[in-house]
Order: sequence, then structure tokens, then C-alpha cells
Amino acid sequence: MPVEDEYNLLGKEEATSQHQDIGLTSTFSTNNSTVEKFNVTPWEVEGDVDYNKLIEKFGTFSISESIINMVKHITGEVHPYIKNRFFFSHRDLDWILREYEKGNRFYLYTGRGPSGKVHLGHLLPWMFTKYLQDKFDVKLIFQITDDEKFLFNEDSNFDLIQKYTYENLLDIIAMGFDPKKTKIIVNTRDIKYLYPLSIEIAKRITFSTAKAVFGFTNSTNIGMIGFPPIQGAPCFLPSLIEKKPTPVLIPAAIDQDPYWRMTRDLAEKLGYPKPAQIHSKFIPGLTSGGKMSSSKPETALFTVDDAESIEKKVKNTFTGGQPTVAMQRKFGGNANNCSVYWYLNYLFDTEKESQERYYACTSGNLLCGECKNDMIKKVKPFMEDIQIKRKKAQDMISKFTIDGKDFDDKDKRLSNLNIYEQ
Ligand code: TRP
Repeated sequence: MPVEDEYNLLGKEEATSQHQDIGLTSTFSTNNSTVEKFNVTPWEVEGDVDYNKLIEKFGTFSISESIINMVKHITGEVHPYIKNRFFFSHRDLDWILREYEKGNRFYLYTGRGPSGKVHLGHLLPWMFTKYLQDKFDVKLIFQITDDEKFLFNEDSNFDLIQKYTYENLLDIIAMGFDPKKTKIIVNTRDIKYLYPLSIEIAKRITFSTAKAVFGFTNSTNIGMIGFPPIQGAPCFLPSLIEKKPTPVLIPAAIDQDPYWRMTRDLAEKLGYPKPAQIHSKFIPGLTSGGKMSSSKPETALFTVDDAESIEKKVKNTFTGGQPTVAMQRKFGGNANNCSVYWYLNYLFDTEKESQERYYACTSGNLLCGECKNDMIKKVKPFMEDIQIKRKKAQDMISKFTIDGKDFDDKDKRLSNLNIYEQ
């Protein structure tokens, strides 16, 4: 396969204190294989994802018991998302923890592509990132890739993306990140902070490498082809801010991995540590099969939804239940393939409650309506609380922007550029 050969153009890495990325020759997408029926790219996730195979294909490492013990040793506890392997894979997490123990603090870096409203599923990795910020007492860079969402969607409209950017900013601030330790970068607004680094990255990536890593073709628009260095730049920004090589840990869904493979391969040439990552699984949607998607409103519970539509959507959610009550009583439900169980488990139930729910469901003692009612009862106040925090966030924006200024979404629309009228 030419794709594999081309990836090798990135060259073999030197032996370093940080993990080698094995699997450099593997393709990021597995859709052309005859055995595997799933496809994972930064812009598309299709099919039934086999996470163990992804670890193999991407050359990442599974979260092992020894890493869990390291986390426990440092923080005194293990977050449920690590314990239950919602975050299931990593690169160099062990190195980050060892450096931390030596007193070398890392930065967190995560992001959001503002393609629509924020839904319940988006909040999981953000809540986890906030947890890491609090536990390790570290700084965070949060990138909003409005450029990416404009470029990657044929029908996108920049004004609409700006509106989502502002709305998403409120959701991010509502998560409760520490304003003294968090900077949000909106790409088109704050590009000057990223541009010098991104050209250093861009200069060292050929088109054939970009094609191999990201699946670009000759008909891909050139904005997309030029975008990856912009998402790579925040991996190195902390070293510039701190004026010394500074470790960075990126919590992200595993579909973002191609970006980090690219930046890891360049890091040492540029004199920066390779960014470490902790990868999450994907979030299921409310309908059968797919993931929660902002572009399909019926598959997602949005942070701005009112109580009535939340209730309606939960009632229509896909579950792992049998077609009839009698069959449910006889055969039990399929909790492993149920989005209501999934959300209750990851967001609302305690570990014990979740186990009890699992057994009650699979043994036929619990009906789907009961779980849906439990979900409605829990998700409504959860969303109400976020809505209150989103309102407060409107007055907190300048505490989070990288330039300390308010976010005026009208500023940058070309139609409002009255530069000669001062
Ligand atoms: N590309 C990501 C998305 O579409 C957004 C993003 C930018 C990101 N930088 C990141 C996500 C760092 C995780 C970590 O959602």
C-alpha cells in the first residue's frame, strides 16, 4: 500500500527518553481492509469500532494497571473514566507522570471544533480535563478550531460558525475551568499566537506525508491541507510561554490521533517534548448505531435544550430493550448496547448503582421505561445547572481569552472591517 510507504517519509525517530511511536507505518483508516468494518479519521467515524484494533493500528498503548497505579500513587485516586477505560489508550502518559513527580509540571491541551451546539457527550472529556486540571493543578490551553469547521464542511457558513464559536465558548467556560490557569484560543481570532509555530511545523511536512496521515487527495481543498499545523501548534506553545521545554498532555478522542502523530514526529527536530496523549472512546448517540451528532438534533441532548425537549428525546432514545415487555422479562435487555445505560453509567450512576442496573436489566427485572425515567430525572437538573453557568459565562469571557479581551464575534467579519474610519 502506497499509504504506508509514504508515512515512512516522516523518517524513523531517534531513541529518546519518550516512547517511540511504534506503528508509524500503519494507516489511520481501516476502511479499505477486508476484515475490519470501521473507519476512523479526524472528520468521520463510521461502523462498529474495535478499540483494541485501533490501538494496534495507531500504535498507541492501552491504559495498563501499572499506569493506573502510578496515577493512584500521585493523586490518591483513580477517576472512573480511567478505571472503566472510557479513556482507554495513551502515548507517554507514564512519562508525563514521572516528569510530574520530578516537579516538571505539564500543560493540558484540548479543543473543540465549533460545528454546532454542544451536546451531553461533548461534556465528558471536558469534565475529565477539568478534573485533571484540578487534581494536578496545571494550566490548560483550549483551542477552538473555527477555521477547521469552516474548511472541512462544504456547506458551512462562517457567520454561523462564529455564532457556534461564541455559544460553545459559554459551554466551555461553564465547565468550571480555573480562569487563572486556562486560556481559550479561537483560531481565526487568535491566529497570531499560533502562526509562528504553525509555519515551523508546516515547513517540515510534505504534501505526500499529509496525504498519508490525513487521507487528503488531489481534490481536497487546500485550506484543509494547510490546516493540520494549526492544530499542532498548541502542542508546543507551552514551551514558548514557559520559556523552557514543557510537557503537554492532550485529552482527546482517539480520532484526533493523526494530528498528534504528526506533531510528535517533528517535536524533537524543533526542540520540544513530544506531546503526550490520553485517548477516549467515542460517545454513542441516542439513536441506534451512530454517535451523538450536532448535525442530527434528534440524536443529541444539547446543553441549551429545554426540559420538555430533553424529556421527549430521552423517551425516544434507542435502548437495548426487547421488542415486548414479555420478551424483556424472559430474555433481559442488552445493557451493553444501550445508550440510556451508557449515559447513566458514565454521567449519573455511582459504580454500585450502575452494576445493579446492569444486572437488573440483563436479567429482565428492569424495563426500559424505568431507566428512561431515571435518566430524565437526572439529566434535567444537570442541564439546568449548566444553563445557569452558561449565563454567568457571558460576563467571564475576557478572563479566558488568550489576549484578555472580550469576544466580539462581529469584529472579524470582513463586512465590519472599518479600518480607515478612526
Ligand atoms: N479538531 C478537534 C475537533 O474537531 C478540535 C481540537 C483542536 C481538539 N485541538 C484539539 C480536540 C486538541 C482535542 C484536543 O473537535
